[in-house]
Amino acid sequence: MRATLKSLIGAVLVAGIVCAAAVDERGLKACNLSPLGHGKDDTDQVEAAISKCGHFGTTVFGPGQYNITRKMTWDLVSSRVDMHGYLNFKPDPEYWLNASNTYRVIFIQDQASWFVITGHDFVVDAHGSGGINGNGQTWWSFYGNRSRSDGDGRPVSLTLSNLTRGVIKDFRIEAQPFWCNAVADSKDVVYDGMYCNATNQDPLYVGQNVVPNTDGINTYRSDSVSLLRFDITSGDDCLAIKGNSTNIFANDITCRGGNGIAVGSLGQYVDLPDIVDNLVIENAKMIRLDPKVQPNMGSGIYFKTWTGSVHGSPPTGGGGGGGFVSNVVAKQFSLDEVTVPIHVYQTNGGSSGDTPSKLQFSNMTFSDFTGTSQRTTIVDIECSPAVPCPNIRFHNIDIAPPNGTAPSYKCVNVASEYGLPACNATGTA
Ligand SMILES: *[C@@H]1O[C@H](CO)[C@@H](O)[C@H](O)[C@H]1NC(C)=O
Ligand SMILES: *[C@@H]1O[C@H](CO)[C@@H](O)[C@H](O)[C@H]1NC(C)=O
Ligand SMILES: *[C@@H]1O[C@H](CO)[C@@H](O)[C@H](O)[C@H]1NC(C)=O
Ligand SMILES: *[C@@H]1O[C@H](CO)[C@@H](O)[C@H](O)[C@H]1NC(C)=O
Ligand SMILES: *[C@@H]1O[C@H](CO)[C@@H](O)[C@H](O)[C@H]1NC(C)=O
Ligand SMILES: *[C@@H]1O[C@H](CO)[C@@H](O)[C@H](O)[C@H]1NC(C)=O
Ligand SMILES: *[C@@H]1O[C@H](CO)[C@@H](O)[C@H](O)[C@H]1NC(C)=O
Ligand SMILES: *[C@@H]1O[C@H](CO)[C@@H](O)[C@H](O)[C@H]1NC(C)=O
Ligand SMILES: *[C@@H]1O[C@H](CO)[C@@H](O)[C@H](O)[C@H]1NC(C)=O
Repeated sequence: MRATLKSLIGAVLVAGIVCAAAVDERGLKACNLSPLGHGKDDTDQVEAAISKCGHFGTTVFGPGQYNITRKMTWDLVSSRVDMHGYLNFKPDPEYWLNASNTYRVIFIQDQASWFVITGHDFVVDAHGSGGINGNGQTWWSFYGNRSRSDGDGRPVSLTLSNLTRGVIKDFRIEAQPFWCNAVADSKDVVYDGMYCNATNQDPLYVGQNVVPNTDGINTYRSDSVSLLRFDITSGDDCLAIKGNSTNIFANDITCRGGNGIAVGSLGQYVDLPDIVDNLVIENAKMIRLDPKVQPNMGSGIYFKTWTGSVHGSPPTGGGGGGGFVSNVVAKQFSLDEVTVPIHVYQTNGGSSGDTPSKLQFSNMTFSDFTGTSQRTTIVDIECSPAVPCPNIRFHNIDIAPPNGTAPSYKCVNVASEYGLPACNATGTA
């Protein structure tokens, strides 16, 4: 039984995960689906298969597009889902923006979800040939001349909520309308192979970033999360590590356009401290795209907090929250003409005269950064004067500024810095 379930879960999860109720080989149920086609709605058959085989069973989606026309939750327990096709979420912003047609399971910023996976001990393997079709173009064009705000109801494409020991493997998300992924209130999660692609093709918006908020993933209130082999085309954060993300390991991350890898924004909720502890990101590559398609390639990695003052309330306002970020390693980054390679600032959403943030950064190491920057400032670390950052370390920061210019490095309110003498460890703003 142990071997069976273990092979079910795959080699990715650590040993010792098998503690579910006994199931034997004959007890495993199997469901096979193929798209109904002819413009039919597949939501009923998908829900029926998951409800039959989602506990102690295997569900196999054959190739093709499965029309999904309403919000859906999969509760998976000791089970496996093989997807060779796509869940195609109907391109109807007016429908999905009606709050009763999505879930609100991600606490932060009250973001909406149309598809939630929960449960424990499962694998969803899309074999690089299936996943989700978000039909994002309809959304990006719809919002091209409307204003957007956090919590306005644009749905996250794939939400993992309240789960323990789950694997998402070789999963493709085509044209995410908003955040591609979110994982919240979860533990022991492995993403091994994730593709997201928000690329505008509406000629009206050539040269503009009409795909904001198409983050690759947001992690929140989750522990022990591996983010492996991500390939993210986005107009926003490639990864966004938000509050109470602990023991996060990211490896082999390709970011095509957007803001780069983010930690934050933190400190938005005045009464909820945000903790980010033990974060390792290695092997990250930033690729600047054709500016007609995506004008931004912001940072290699950046960290941001709100100020210590409160300006309105979440989801759109906030600030004043405490907490800390510590024990961060960012290594082996390759950058292509990014705007600010390494950036820390604690004034997000703030204004002059605000009290400084009390959320402290410490114990951060940046090593083996190569490539190019569009500006001369290679490192711009501006910590809060209320809580200067101790133990900021650099090794092998080899980023070329524009031809004919000299690189500069800025460390403000950094209490102790090692490895980059040019970065002033004692300066103040
Ligand atoms: C299913 O998708 C097809 C192609 O996108 C579309 O023409 C059809 O109207 C959809 N059916 C439903 C019920 O949404
Ligand atoms: C929102 O959807 C609900 C449930 O489908 C429906 O009863 C309600 O009329 C819709 N509201 C609007 C403003 O369309
Ligand atoms: C918004 O853009 C659409 C085309 O995408 C156009 O039909 C519509 O008139 C525009 N609305 C405004 C208010 O500009
Ligand atoms: C989370 O999942 C557990 C079972 O795994 C369940 O008992 C609990 O009610 C769930 N919590 C939420 C907020 O859904
Ligand atoms: C993303 O989608 C665009 C438009 O379909 C395509 O040109 C581009 O090659 C895709 N990017 C990747 C990395 O697949
Ligand atoms: C983060 O965890 C701490 C300690 O467990 C808790 O006090 C705090 O409220 C949590 N913050 C959020 C945003 O959930
Ligand atoms: C920072 O590192 C030092 C030395 O390893 C350790 O004592 C301290 O607890 C760390 N700080 C945090 C907030 O983890
Ligand atoms: C900068 O100089 C390098 C080496 O001489 C050259 O290959 C590159 O094209 C130049 N870049 C720009 C933007 O001029
Ligand atoms: C850092 O500060 C020291 C002393 O305050 C000063 O001598 C030095 O020039 C500064 N370095 C930079 C790179 O600004």
